Amino acid sequence: SDPLRLGIAGLGTVGVGVLKILRDQADLIAARAGRPLVATAVSARSRDKDRGVDISGLAWEDDPVTLATRDDVDVFVELMGGSDGPAKAATEAAIAAGKDVVTANKAMLAHHGQALAEAAEAAGHVIRFEAAVAGGIPVIKALTEGLSANRVLRVMGVMNGTCNYILTRMQSSGLPYQTVFEEADKLGFLEADPELDVGGIDAGHKLSLLASIAFGTRVDFAAVQLEGIGNITIEDIEQAADMGYRIKLLGVAQMTGRGLEQRMQPCLVPDSSPLGQLEGGTNMVVLEGDAVGQIVLRGAGAGEGPTASAVMADVIDIARGIRLSTFGQPAAGLLAARGASSAVP
Ligand code: NDP
Ligand code: HSE
Repeated sequence: SDPLRLGIAGLGTVGVGVLKILRDQADLIAARAGRPLVATAVSARSRDKDRGVDISGLAWEDDPVTLATRDDVDVFVELMGGSDGPAKAATEAAIAAGKDVVTANKAMLAHHGQALAEAAEAAGHVIRFEAAVAGGIPVIKALTEGLSANRVLRVMGVMNGTCNYILTRMQSSGLPYQTVFEEADKLGFLEADPELDVGGIDAGHKLSLLASIAFGTRVDFAAVQLEGIGNITIEDIEQAADMGYRIKLLGVAQMTGRGLEQRMQPCLVPDSSPLGQLEGGTNMVVLEGDAVGQIVLRGAGAGEGPTASAVMADVIDIARGIRLSTFGQPAAGLLAARGASSAVP
């Protein structure tokens, strides 16, 4: 059958990861998707940069908007980043041109995802974003497919690897926040604007997306109660440890009598619990459904392979003809005000 043709905007960490999976797993993916998947065109800022993958056979576009609307592109894969600017312009252009969209861009989705998803659906298309929440962990699939028979009572978790790295490294080394922050910077962990990480904003973006899916509500990032880790001192960490706790930047979303509550803030979690034991740049998401109880998903929340894995899972779904939309599914949990247990795993 006809190949599904991808236009990929952004050839950084994630874009290159996607090209490598397309190159290395072509046969396996074609078998699973029921048709070949091919990249036809790409875009990035610099055409000359050596990216460690061969793009010589692909069409090049300087302008991602032009890429998004090419006739030989069926799915626009947005991997540039940024809440506005070219990412949003190209995504809107792709939808207007009748393309499906796959993106990893949680910042864009937290601010504009609802409108983009509604525009895509109105045009009979989808915007998919598994990679935008907890990187390689298939948490959106778990919610929309695995837990589709449940009312979701609560979602929570550690969703920013940089913050988890800083907090666990402070604990293990006894070094102060500023020193560990500089270490994380040298390791290349921080976003271009580090405040997105340490201010809890990136994790808040992810929580707002997850909450919308879990509770069938509109994406409402502005309603997330946010507090970052910038004020956590080594003394705070040591005092918590003395009492048998660790400090984690923990997100919690649940329905209450006052409506959807979304919080992303430093919390004490028991040292011996799975969340307490979560080390380094790893993510953990806990989903609580009325029938299934609590399930815990743990894995890489960032990086070339893990993030590209999630992007490709969305592309493969589209190739298979799965048109499931992910925002605002009412069955998920609007009436779930009662029953959330208080146990933190
Ligand atoms: P990078 O910074 O590594 O790459 C961004 C790419 O976009 C680069 O190739 C850059 O071009 C290109 N780009 C930027 N601006 C433009 C523009 N105006 N026109 C054309 N191309 C442009 O980002 P990542 O790969 O790390 O992230 C991509 C997306 O995935 C982001 O939304 C990020 O939040 C998300 N994400 C990333 C994860 C990760 O682990 N890295 C994890 C989960 C989500 P050039 O190379 O020429 O400079
Ligand atoms: N800066 C993010 C993090 C990247 O540290 O988790 C993945 O979204």
